[in-house]
Amino acid sequence: MSDKGDKFIIDGLAGQKILKGEIAVGGAKNAVLKVLASSVLFSDGFSLKKVPEIEDVFRMFDLLKYIGISVEGEKGSYVLNTKNISNQALVSDIAKKMRSSIVLTGPLLARFGKVTFPYPGGCVIGKRPVDMFLAGFKKMGATIEEKDNTFLVKAEDGKLRGAEIFFKQQSVTNTETFLMAGVLAKGKTVLKNCALEPEIESLGEFLVSCGAKITGLGTSTIEIEGGELLSGVGQNYTTMPDRIEAGSFLILGAIAGEDIKITDCEPKHLDSLINILRDSGVEIETGRNFLRVKNSGQEKFLATDIKTHEYPGFPTDLQAPMAIFLSQAEGESFIFETIFEGRLNYLEALARMGMRAKIIDTNRAIIHGPNKLESKEIESPDLRAGLAYLLSAIIASGRSVVHNVKYIDRGYEKIENRLKVLGVKIERVSED
Ligand code: EPU
Repeated sequence: MSDKGDKFIIDGLAGQKILKGEIAVGGAKNAVLKVLASSVLFSDGFSLKKVPEIEDVFRMFDLLKYIGISVEGEKGSYVLNTKNISNQALVSDIAKKMRSSIVLTGPLLARFGKVTFPYPGGCVIGKRPVDMFLAGFKKMGATIEEKDNTFLVKAEDGKLRGAEIFFKQQSVTNTETFLMAGVLAKGKTVLKNCALEPEIESLGEFLVSCGAKITGLGTSTIEIEGGELLSGVGQNYTTMPDRIEAGSFLILGAIAGEDIKITDCEPKHLDSLINILRDSGVEIETGRNFLRVKNSGQEKFLATDIKTHEYPGFPTDLQAPMAIFLSQAEGESFIFETIFEGRLNYLEALARMGMRAKIIDTNRAIIHGPNKLESKEIESPDLRAGLAYLLSAIIASGRSVVHNVKYIDRGYEKIENRLKVLGVKIERVSED
């Protein structure tokens, strides 16, 4: 990759539904990043399998190395060793750019009694505040100083104490951060109004297998009995399948597939998407670990409304890819983004491609379909909208250029190679 990054050049299918074949789903970014962060809770280390080879994972590796954790391995299998860990302030550029770095604060504070971290960055999809993290740390007996956009959090007497924390809003990274903090806190921590995303349960179950005392996983109340450092000797975390990637492939199959089988996935994590697509007229077969979408070429999709919601509702991370599906459905579809304000701006570039999309306000938009899309040069604004742009370029007529591939690379492993197998005409080219 050059310094300027890469772009994708895509020759669109002009509405033909001709993609065919099998595509395997990779390990879930938002699961493995948190399991990597949990290594701070370990006296020794552990190994991981099915780790997606994506930029966010490599950046998390860099952060772990920065605090003295060794990371060895390749091609999805890695071993972490924590014996030389030290409490470095998380002020590196990586922490500033990657939102998920915030989950390291819980285990670092719980293990060392203090943590320094910058206001975290990540995709530009709304305000993304940190108030709930700060409120939770205070509940566990910590004090907070803020200077130049950097927080210094210190536990009273060097040890967090168990507490009851009611999250004012369901939050994935808050639930994970305090789940991990509770493992080394003194006494019992009770988390209420927890997020229910399956990545949290996957993290919690792994910690339990390594000695943590956690009950209530998969429910909105989680209890953690604090104890000693965990041990990962002989433990192997196998990354759960990425439900957002699987859902994106399902949408691709609906709008451009003749017969696509999506393997290595967990269909039960996609109930909301599968039901909405079926109601719109998409034929989907589900198996224990696969999804198949077939098109006779005759079907018309019906417009439908979507409202993003915490799991098991419609995932905000599939909202942008779903907009491409809605652009192919007949009638007026309403999108209500309830998790992040400002996650609809990507629609402006799609309107240039011919999508009849109207942004009503920061959270609501209307799409009037069906639309014939035309190729354009577009720039990915973030990871999920970037994937949506790939979908739009694939179904458009003509040659599109998608810039800012670096965002797509944050979450999807070698996406072009995998799409090519289905018949997508896509090339990665350096921006030089
Ligand atoms: N919120 C607060 N205060 C806080 C933290 C969050 O008000 O201190 C609010 C947010 O502004 C938002 C809501 O809580 O309105 C829920 O956000 P949440 O905290 O659940 O989001 P997150 O944990 O920052 C994770 C994923 C996102 C995914 C969301 C929702 C990671 C690293 N990120 O973010 O994934 O969209 O949950 O499911 O797990 C992505 O992968 O592209 C991505 C953005």
